[in-house]
This record gives sequence, structure tokens and C-alpha cells, in this order.
Amino acid sequence: MSQHVQTKRVTAPEIAARKGGEPVVCLTAYTAPMAAILDPHCDLLLVGDSVGMVVHGLPNTVGVTLDMMILHGQAVMRTAIHAMVVVDMPFGSYEAGPETAYANAARVMKETGCQAVKVESGPEVARTVEYLVRRGIPVMGHVGLRPQAVNVDGGFRAKGRTNLERDRVLEEAKATDAAGAFAIVVEGVAEDLAQEITGAVHAPTIGIGASAACDGQILVTDDMLGLFDWTPKFVRRYADLRRHVGDAIASYAADVRARRFPASAETYALKKS
Ligand code: KIV
Repeated sequence: MSQHVQTKRVTAPEIAARKGGEPVVCLTAYTAPMAAILDPHCDLLLVGDSVGMVVHGLPNTVGVTLDMMILHGQAVMRTAIHAMVVVDMPFGSYEAGPETAYANAARVMKETGCQAVKVESGPEVARTVEYLVRRGIPVMGHVGLRPQAVNVDGGFRAKGRTNLERDRVLEEAKATDAAGAFAIVVEGVAEDLAQEITGAVHAPTIGIGASAACDGQILVTDDMLGLFDWTPKFVRRYADLRRHVGDAIASYAADVRARRFPASAETYALKKS
């Protein structure tokens, strides 16, 4: 008999039903040990394609592959037992059309066991979002600052600062909502636009750099833990892990050099027979 204690996992309909209710708590996760720490506190864990920049040192998310997302999705699914787990569809895996997107998203769902996928969305991929949802794949949208469009935008810039851009982001959100996304990430927009989007769509909006006007919040975990020197303005640092890790490594290096580590308590002795 299985030793597993069965925990009820958060579902896409439950997240969708949180519209206007208790804010949805989301964070990114890429590894098994970190997912285990985050899981009891979060409603949703996103295996974001930010993994390419955060873990693999890429300059942006464009180089992230489906195999990378699957590997990290599998790691997170091994220890997350409560939160809904969503895996990002990487650049190039869903834009060509609904059939390719379905084949790739189904592979992600089968090989990781995750509950949904996320795509950077707007009118161009609305038909794809609808195609996936109708065939059993819950989809989270992502509008506003869309990191996979970095080469078109010429960098990572907040969105919706001109009337034209505002209309464009609103259109992205409405198209994603009408296509059936269960939630929509809204990234890098001013508070009044976040408020307008949140009021205009049925799906809960999950803000990142999009003010408290959203139905939930997400941050890149490594940013909020202070693992990087620089973080965007919208990140609140809840810890200073870069300094703590640096201090710990410096102590270890000093101990090894002074032969203080390992001590006898950290050394195997011969068995007394
Ligand atoms: O890839 C990612 O981590 C994301 C979040 C920042 C929303 O898309």
C-alpha cells in the first residue's frame, strides 16, 4: 500500500474562482528542494521560463527549450504536493499554431504531471489558448511586459505608458480571457491599467510589477530572497540570501584553509569490534 499521505492539490477551477476574493499567492519554483519549501505557503507554483536567466545564466528567456522546462517541471512536481503547478511554454513552442502548441503542451503535461501551462498571450495566440483549453489543457495567460518579446521590444520595459500601448495590453488581456485562460499574469504595468484589466476580465489577474490592483501576486523567488545584486523596482526583498550565502562560504573556506574543518565530530572513526 502507498505510504503517501494524500493531500488535495489546488486546481485550475479553484484558482479561477478566487476572482475578487482572497488574493492568490504565487511564486516561481525550478528545483525540488525549493518547491518543498514554497509549497505549503503558495496556491500556485510557476515553473517559469525565467529559469533560463535565474538558473542557467542566459541573457533572456528566448534560449529556453521545452526539454529544460520539462526537466525543471519534473523536479518541482516531485516535492510540491499542495500548490497547483504551472509550467511555462518556452519561446517557439506554441506560437506557430494550435496543433504544434497542443503537441508540445501535452508533452509537458504528460512528462511532468503539472496541472497547467502558461503562454505569453494576446490576440495572436487566442485561438491556440482556446484550442488547448477545449482539449483539456488549462492555460494561464501572460500580458503586458512579455519577456519572450524582448527582441521586438528592444529590452524589458514596463508596458501601457502611452494610450496606444494601454489599448494593446487591454486587448491582450481581453483576448486571453475570452479564449478561456483560468488566470492571467499581468506584468510591468501601471496601477490604473492593472485596475482596468482586472475589472475587464473574468479570470483572476496575477500581478508582477502591476500593483495591488490584481487578484493575486507572483514574484521570481530568487529575487524576493535577495539572491541577486540587482532587482526590479517592484520586488520587495524578504531576505538577503546573497549576503548570508557569501558569509557562509567565506567561513567554510577559512575553516578549510586553517584545518578547522572537518573536526572529529565530522569524521568517521573505525568501528569498535
Ligand atoms: O518566467 C517567469 O518566471 C514568469 C513570471 C515572472 C511571471 O513568467
